[in-house]
Amino acid sequence: MDRSEKDRVKIFDTTLRDGEQSPGISLNKQEKLEIAHQLARLGADIIEAGFPITSPGDFEAVQAIAREVHGPVICGLARTGKQDIDAAWNAVKDSERPRIHTFIATSDIHIERKLQTTREDVMGQARAAVAHARQYTEDVEFSPEDGSRSDVEFMAEVIQIAIDEGATTINVPDTVGYTMPDEYAEMWARLYELIPDLAKVITSVHCHNDLGLAVANSFSGVTAGARQVECAINGIGERAGNASLEEIVMLLHTRESSVGVWTSVNTREIARTSRLVSRLTGYPVQPNKAIVGRNAFAHEAGIHQDGVLKERTTYEIMDATTIGLETNSIVLGKHSGRHALRKALEELGFAVDGAALNSAFKRFKELADKKKKVTALDLEAIVSDEMKQAPAAFEIESFEVEASNVRAPLAKVTVRMPDGTVGSGSFTGDGPVDAFFSAINAATGHDARLKEFHVSAVTGGRDALGEVTVLLELDGQLGSGTGVSTDILEASGKAYLRALSNVLSDDAVAEAERLLEQETRTAPAP
Ligand code: KIV
Ligand code: ZN
Repeated sequence: MDRSEKDRVKIFDTTLRDGEQSPGISLNKQEKLEIAHQLARLGADIIEAGFPITSPGDFEAVQAIAREVHGPVICGLARTGKQDIDAAWNAVKDSERPRIHTFIATSDIHIERKLQTTREDVMGQARAAVAHARQYTEDVEFSPEDGSRSDVEFMAEVIQIAIDEGATTINVPDTVGYTMPDEYAEMWARLYELIPDLAKVITSVHCHNDLGLAVANSFSGVTAGARQVECAINGIGERAGNASLEEIVMLLHTRESSVGVWTSVNTREIARTSRLVSRLTGYPVQPNKAIVGRNAFAHEAGIHQDGVLKERTTYEIMDATTIGLETNSIVLGKHSGRHALRKALEELGFAVDGAALNSAFKRFKELADKKKKVTALDLEAIVSDEMKQAPAAFEIESFEVEASNVRAPLAKVTVRMPDGTVGSGSFTGDGPVDAFFSAINAATGHDARLKEFHVSAVTGGRDALGEVTVLLELDGQLGSGTGVSTDILEASGKAYLRALSNVLSDDAVAEAERLLEQETRTAPAP
């Protein structure tokens, strides 16, 4: 099929910005960099790397991505204020292809209740923001927030202003996931009618999944003429999340001959990207999730298995190899050396050297002693787990758990604190994991409450690595963490302590944001 550039749909990935706004997710700089490198391998056209004004940590992560990740456009989000736009620019300016994305709400409910201002003021802020951003770069995106619930005539006026000031991409978000496919397409049709200049810019969709329609609405926007889709890996994002990147990409790929548009995503990187994001965010993928769920290519009913064995396409509309799900050829054993490990990791897309290679090698040797064959999935799990060892975090020093069915399990644990001191605690519980987590609370002096606990095996077999995900709550804040080990208790302890470290670092960010807001409110007018 002939492909022309005008039919190419750009993939704007917002996993690291909207995705990172999901409750309990807190990625450090190294984790964000790793995800950004993988998004570049995946072929995302634009990476929205963060919202630089919100915290020094976010600023630094966006800056590192802008400096180190090559290929995609690197974008920073900003409200309309000068300080926001300056922060976004300073964070992305070292990229080969920087973009500033600025937004302001255009729905009356947001203008009156949230911004407590007027339509005239919104028009003025949009004008000033795009003009200011254009002084820095030619690549400026503008979004009228809550666009799908805005008065379309007023929104069109604001968009016209943004285009007049030099915005090159216009993105109309369904911020609260309220619209329906036909309605969203009608809104676009009306906008094209009202703003002939839309033909001169890239139009973009950004849909939330509150009613489970994010991908359907995004697709509807594409059919109406949009040539950029904002989406996130595994569909993570505010509340019910964003349109899932893998679903929209595979929809356009699988039905390309019917829809007539295409993306330049390397679909064979989809499965790996999904696993990496799930591990680093601590958000498991639901088993029946389209494209990347564990069951997406599994056949349970005998009649289906029989059909697939005779002819795969009887029950499969996609080939698992298209998203990179085939069993990887990498297999190492206990005699494999450091060089073989480094090569295997390179093949998997991890550039691991120096101290990181040494610790990965140590983990690999420990695993190879227990497991005859170490596969690509095992290596991915070990390396992502190593990445989770944030320098200023709690770490288990030692633990002992006594469990039997005649008396309450008892756990004793010593934990290294972020300041280097060591705390210890012991506790009984309803089960070994419960006792272990209570002992960790006692050792760290934090009364965290477990909200969710998931265990899964990285590969099949009794010697498989176990992967644990924990979601906990401390003083009303959520934090998630994952841990990997052949010992499920060790993996659980790691996951719990990482979740705790994440809540506490989120606390620090919230405090910094509160101070910043206070400062802005009390600062004299410029
Ligand atoms: O959902 C939304 O409206 C957003 C904007 C910042 C684009 O995330
Ligand atoms: Zn959003």
